[in-house]
Amino acid sequence: MTGALMPDLWEPAGTYLNTASYGLPPRPAWDALQEALDDWRGGRTSWEHWGTPGEEARASFARLVGVPPETVAIGATVSGLIGLIAASVPDGTRMLAPDVEFTSLLFPFLVQQHRGVSVRLVPARELPGEIGPDVDVVAFSAVQMASGEVADLDAISLAAAEHDVMTVVDATQAIGWLPLHASRFDVVAAHGYKWLMSPRGTAYMSIRPERLGDIVPTTAGWYAGEDPLETFFGPPLRLADSARRLDTSPAWFMWVAAAPTLAIIEEVGVEAITRHDVALANRFRAGLGLEPSNSAIVMSDAPGAAEKLAVAGIQAAVRGGRLRTSWHVYNTESDVDRTLGVLSG
Ligand SMILES: Cc1ncc(COP(=O)(O)O)c(C=O)c1O
Repeated sequence: MTGALMPDLWEPAGTYLNTASYGLPPRPAWDALQEALDDWRGGRTSWEHWGTPGEEARASFARLVGVPPETVAIGATVSGLIGLIAASVPDGTRMLAPDVEFTSLLFPFLVQQHRGVSVRLVPARELPGEIGPDVDVVAFSAVQMASGEVADLDAISLAAAEHDVMTVVDATQAIGWLPLHASRFDVVAAHGYKWLMSPRGTAYMSIRPERLGDIVPTTAGWYAGEDPLETFFGPPLRLADSARRLDTSPAWFMWVAAAPTLAIIEEVGVEAITRHDVALANRFRAGLGLEPSNSAIVMSDAPGAAEKLAVAGIQAAVRGGRLRTSWHVYNTESDVDRTLGVLSG
């Protein structure tokens, strides 16, 4: 039977099938966070070292998606990071996106409509075929939160390259379980609180170096300097040359928990996580009589499912009236079998 990956590190209180809503922290992350909070409460230390984990997490994220850390910015939300991109595209930019897309990717572009930025929506699987000379930006989730559908990354990146279209990817539901090479896309943003099992407030955005100069760092403050400890006071404007010019000052404690978690993900390896998560998802699908798929998220229509799971204390979600279960490192085959048993009861 498949057990959890690194089972000693996670302590779910029951069967937890809702990583697509939020992921659970491994013990070293929890311990590091408690220690930092304790230091904070007691005023025991200075603060500078609370910035270090943000840098470690940036470097881990960069390795996970195969780009240099200088091309990764950190912030607090995907919408905030994507907002920098949307606010910087030229007037009249024509954006293409899937018709059921999460608003953190859409709203930042929709609020630019007053300057002629337009958004055209098409069914997700038609996205690659719709990329053509009348598109300037294609923006999409690598994995859809409402369906679990994995985007055809190869077809989209090929079509975009052919027509010189800027690619903006929300990888929040992907990074942590799906291998994704960020260098294939202009922008890849992801929040860390789901599959990267970090606290909310830890978001990342990789940006292709050629695009960096076009982005106006409207949220720049002391942390957007090359060495934040040297950019406390006064003009002139002195931003980092790297993507950290798009950083916002870190929510210290959140990053204290993020860094050890990403280190563990690197240690386990994303390929092992893909195999584990998708195998559990497919075992669950098989139990429901569904065809196998390539996703760690399973949507299903079992009647009364949400109520049955709630009574059994199994955590899952309902999206668009359908049951959404998501399978990650701390889940096991016994979670699958228990859930199937509850649903068939
Ligand atoms: C695909 C996707 N993107 C982004 C987010 C979070 O967005 P934000 O960081 O703007 O809160 C979520 C949360 O459900 C999501 O599913």
